[in-house]
Formats: sequence, C-alpha cells, structure tokens
Amino acid sequence: MTASARPQTLWLGRWGFVLAATGSSVGLGNIWKFPYMTGEYGGGAFVLVYLLCIALIGVPIMMAEIAVGRRGRANPVEAVRQVARESGRSRLWSGLGWMSMICGFMILSFYVVVAGWSISYLWKSVSGGLHADSVAGMAAIFKANNANPWNLGFWSTLVTIVTMLIVGKGVQAGIERSVRWMMPGLVIMLALMIVYAIVSADFEAGFHFLFAFNLDNLTGEAVLAAMGHAFFTLSLAAGAIIAYGAYLPANQSIVRTTLTVAICDTLVALMAGLAIFPVIFANGMDPDSGPGLIFMSLPLAFQAMPFGGVMAAVFFLMLTVAALTSSISMIEATVAWLNQSHGLSRRRASWGVGIVLWLVSTLAMLSFNVGADWTLAGKHFFDWLDFLTSRLMMPLGGLGMAILTGFFLRRHIVREELAMPTWLFALWQFALRYVCPIAIVLVFLDALGWLGSGLDWRWLAGMLVVGLLVELGLRARASIRDRAPVR
Ligand code: PHE
Repeated sequence: MTASARPQTLWLGRWGFVLAATGSSVGLGNIWKFPYMTGEYGGGAFVLVYLLCIALIGVPIMMAEIAVGRRGRANPVEAVRQVARESGRSRLWSGLGWMSMICGFMILSFYVVVAGWSISYLWKSVSGGLHADSVAGMAAIFKANNANPWNLGFWSTLVTIVTMLIVGKGVQAGIERSVRWMMPGLVIMLALMIVYAIVSADFEAGFHFLFAFNLDNLTGEAVLAAMGHAFFTLSLAAGAIIAYGAYLPANQSIVRTTLTVAICDTLVALMAGLAIFPVIFANGMDPDSGPGLIFMSLPLAFQAMPFGGVMAAVFFLMLTVAALTSSISMIEATVAWLNQSHGLSRRRASWGVGIVLWLVSTLAMLSFNVGADWTLAGKHFFDWLDFLTSRLMMPLGGLGMAILTGFFLRRHIVREELAMPTWLFALWQFALRYVCPIAIVLVFLDALGWLGSGLDWRWLAGMLVVGLLVELGLRARASIRDRAPVR
C-alpha cells in the first residue's frame, strides 16, 4: 500500500469517533437481538453473563482493536499486517484482519433483512397497516410481511442501496450528523416506552425476567450465545472498530472513548429490554417467540398509547437509522480495503460490494418465504449466517486479537497507543493475556460439552493458575533478556 492510499480523512470534531463507534455498536443488536435472545435463553442469567462478557472481554478487546486500527492507519487487513510487521511478527497475522472483514460482510448479509423489517414497519405505521387486536393478530402481520419475497426483497434491497450510497460517499460526514440526533432521540423514545410499561404493562414481571437470575438454568450453549452477543453488540471482530479506529486522531483517548461507547451500548440494550418485556408479559405473549419478538410486541403497546401511530412511526424511523449507522460500519472495512489496497474508487468499490451483498442477502431473505425448506442441520441460510458469525467467527477473532495485542505486539507500541497509567495498562494486559483467552476457550469447550460436569469455578481457578505461571515465566525471561550485555 502506498502512503498516499492511507486514509487522509480523520473524524471531524472531538466527538466524531465516539459518535461513529456508538452508531456502529447501537443498532438492531440492542433492540431486536438482545431482547429475543434473552427471551430464548430464559432471562436474568443470560443477561448477567452478557454483562460480564461486555466488561471483562468486550471492553479490553475494543481498546485493542481501536489501537490496532489507529496504529496501522488502514483497513483491517492492512492495519493488522502493519502493526504485526512493526513488531517484527509474521505477515500471516493479517489473516485476522481478513476474517474480521469477511465476518462484517456476512453479518451485513442478514442484517439488511432485519433492517428491511424495520423500514417496512415504519411504512406500515405511516400507512396504517399496523393494527391488530391481539398478539396473534400482530404475529399474523409479521408472517404476512415475510411471506412475499417481492415485498421483503424490496425493503432489504432499499437498505442495501442506501447503505452502499452512504459508504460510497465516505462515512465521516454522513455518520457524524445522523448519530448526533438519532442517539438522543432513540434514548428518549425508549424512556417514553418504559414509562408506558410502568404505567400500563406488567413492569414487575418484565423487570424480574431481566434481572432475577438463576444460574442453574444456564446451559453452555447459552453462555456461548451471551459471549457471542457481547461481541456482536460492540461491533467487535467484524472489521468495524478497526476500520473506524484508523480515522481516530492521535490525541484522543482510546480508554475514554471505549468506555463511553460500551456504556451507551449497554444502556440502550437494557432500556430496550425494560420497554419490551413488560408488554410481552402483559399480553400473555411467549418471551421465546424468536426473531419476530419486537415486531409482534411493540406495535401492541404503541396501539394502546396516546398518539400511538406517531410514536410507532418515530420509533421505527429511529430503529432504521440505528440499523443504518451499524450497517455502514460493517462494510466500511471491505470498501476501504478495495480502495486502499486495490486502488478502486470508493464509489466503484461500494457498487461492486453492494452487488455481491445484494445477492447474498437475497438468499438470506428467501429463508423466510420460498426458501423456508432449504435448511441444513435444521437451520436456514439466515440462521447460518448469524450462527457462524456470532458463535464462531467473532469469539475466534476476539481470541486472535487478544493474543496478538497481549503477547505479540511490542509493548511500547501498545503503550503509546493506549496512553494509560501503568496500573491500568497492567490490568488491561492481564485481561487480554489471560482473562479473554481463557474465558473464550472455556466457553467454547463448555458449549461443545467437553468439560464434563460443566463450567465451574474449578476450571476457572485452574486456568487462572496456569495463566499466572505463564505470566511469571514471561517476566523472568524478559528480565534475563534485559540483563544480557548488548551486542
Ligand atoms: N453492533 C451492531 C448492533 O448491535 C451490529 C454490528 C456487528 C455492527 C458487527 C458492526 C459490526 O446492531
């Protein structure tokens, strides 16, 4: 890559990156996926593991990704190769960049279908097609919306085109402006919906479902799902954060930025849960209703509110914008890569990627109608895209990133980028070297059923002791090397 192909534009203003990264992380993951997964995995215990994963795994890995993006000042493939080279490591590390870029593309292929649901519900609430007097009626509307591939395909195609148009123009200007009004708007809407839930729905039941946990109900599969979702919701291991980090000015604090993004993201998810579950319980709906959960429950609540029609339209508008600010971040890596490493103009690159994306997402869209029977091991193409990315590629990508930044990058490089007090740096390094890899490996083994009696404190304690020994060994080696005479 030539120096001139490096990204020249940095985020505008002090808040540019924070807004963009928040726009990337807050999206359908928080409002659509988090509630339905919580419903599927039985509530509080899932939420607890998810929160732990955000704090112990997500936050340290996000810092690592931003640092790598900024140091490499390029798309994920180049950025990872560049930082590895600067530390005298193999070019093969760029495989990590490849995997994350492909992962972002795969997520977007099913994400545009869900974003399509959101716009079609915006349209329905404006045109008056969103009325039913029961949960069953709302479920029928959701089914009917999916049943016609031309209808569903129209909406997902629209999302694909809008995403590619924005990315083609360069993400900075568009994103910063839209996130600035969308984010506060979304929070206000969710707050209003929570007020409604307190006044008119079964808030107590919803609250209890979200926060009262019983760890006995937790399966290995649920823990892996919670961990995968922590990656998904923070946009990690999918190219987005590395790609955006490449545009982060040198003087901005990675630590502060990461904490802001993670806190906003978590708050929005919890608020969504608090707005949705009370309505679900008040209407006798099953929390385990799958991906249609919010589309079947929320319209019922809107219908019962004063100015419900307007509220529904505003809500689905915001959800669509939130989905778009995430979509663009998923594909930025690929477009930047074609642009920087292959000399294609951004516009051409986005059209090219857009066409492939359209083909793959159309296949995903067909899972809900004509392709309903095209399954492999009981899963549709749509489900496979979700499963492969969230349960496999993102945890593996996170593991690779933790090992790369924890063990293989030169200390001074990481220290320069992260610019944090020594004790905090030590803590971060400990998290990346031991907490993340051990947790990710154990969760994988547990989900595969290889831990026998399951994941318990003995496994954790054993692995931490191993980690501690490795750390002591590394330190001893470093101090011997420091004392050796310089040749
Ligand atoms: N974090 C986004 C959401 O929660 C999804 C996303 C995943 C965005 C991966 C970018 C990369 O909706």
